[in-house]
Amino acid sequence: MNSDMNPVGRLRRAPENFLSAEDIAAVAAGRRDFLKKAFIAAGASLATGASAHALAADASNAGDPAILELPEYSKTLGKPVAANGYGVPSKYEHNLQRRESPGLTRVSAASVAFAPLQGLFGIITPNGLHFERHHQGWIDVDPGKHRLMVNGMVSNAKVYTMDDLMRLPSVSRIHFIECGANSSMEWGNVAVPTVQYTHGMLSCCEFTGVPLSVLLEDCGFDKKNGKFVLAEGADGSSMTRTIAMDRALDDAIVAYGMNGEMLRPENGYPLRLVVPGVQGVSWVKWLRRLKVGDQPWAAKDESIHYVDLLPTGQLRQYTSIQETKSVITAPSGGQMLLDKGFYNISGIAWSGRGKIKRVDVSFDGGHNWTTARLENPVLPKALARFNLGWTWSGGPAILQSRALDETGYVQPKISELRAVRGTRSIYHNNAIQSWKVAESGEVSNVQTY
Ligand code: MTE
Repeated sequence: MNSDMNPVGRLRRAPENFLSAEDIAAVAAGRRDFLKKAFIAAGASLATGASAHALAADASNAGDPAILELPEYSKTLGKPVAANGYGVPSKYEHNLQRRESPGLTRVSAASVAFAPLQGLFGIITPNGLHFERHHQGWIDVDPGKHRLMVNGMVSNAKVYTMDDLMRLPSVSRIHFIECGANSSMEWGNVAVPTVQYTHGMLSCCEFTGVPLSVLLEDCGFDKKNGKFVLAEGADGSSMTRTIAMDRALDDAIVAYGMNGEMLRPENGYPLRLVVPGVQGVSWVKWLRRLKVGDQPWAAKDESIHYVDLLPTGQLRQYTSIQETKSVITAPSGGQMLLDKGFYNISGIAWSGRGKIKRVDVSFDGGHNWTTARLENPVLPKALARFNLGWTWSGGPAILQSRALDETGYVQPKISELRAVRGTRSIYHNNAIQSWKVAESGEVSNVQTY
């Protein structure tokens, strides 16, 4: 790229760190100019950005002091090894946090902390930024006391300790987990300002554990009549979910590892179920029991919640698969394009049915589409990263991404979903996301279809 003709644009990061509950309420009420106020309120960070810009301008005349004057750290001894027995991010990254959406639930123990998708690269979610969804708070379970019982239609019911489980054959696989309620606030209209809140009930990790099929075989499950497996958690919510036997035997994992270390307590330490492609609620955390049966259990979270309300008033049950979806994470809502010129449009795509085949990007609200570059690896039921270069001329634009998976399924428009599901649904909103770029460079969440 010729940088004189096509200079690289700068991006002002999303302002989640200084959004108040009132600001979020203002967006929900349809007011979008709050971002300007929020930026002014964040005077300190703005000043830093401005002085960096001034430095760059100075540099062309007098030479850049950031290059010419050696900083203290280049002339002294750095910190010793193991100063942090467990490494933590740089202090300059302190704004990258998972965040609760103010006012979403009454009690934080039964809420969601959204992953900061706008600040993540590639496809792996760092363990400390994995989204959290608890029905009755998280717990830190002593692995020495934790047990997994397998019972029901099995010839040899068993209780496993963590040691027992970790001695069995294991697999490690990269998969996304998405809550069925991700993007649920957007069913009726635009509700939240940034990608952290529109899509942040989503993460992707390498999970390690015992294939569920190995445990079922070990306990001699009834191959003729055993059609379902009930998974039950040890927390106060006693989360119970029915998993169909073909899925249980396919690629489900009883996992203890996440990105090379033990699961974090918030994510089910020491044991959770991984059901690739299926909505997050079935990934039962603090897993304490698996029961084989011949019919679905229609548990509380399968009959009152996690059901799809249709316009007829009927509720659709057991819609487990997370259908193909994608979103542009940079630039995204709340960010600001500071210059005309080149931008790397980057985002993620995923499908609960297999691999992502293609992602198309539009800059004009869906009139024209350009195929984006899919980065390696592209794995089944995992996030895929896409990138595409774009030169912003300074005019208004609507940025969108549209994913297609290997089964041929194409990510729908919100109007197409509403035609079938109405506007009062909660779960499984996999619509195309639109980000409006104003002439000012401000990026905001809009619905154009
Ligand atoms: N398992 C138990 N035992 N208790 C819970 O509250 N929440 C479920 C699921 N498993 C839950 C649970 C829901 S709704 C989701 S979306 C995922 O866990 C979230 O997993 P995470 O917190 O690791 O992101």
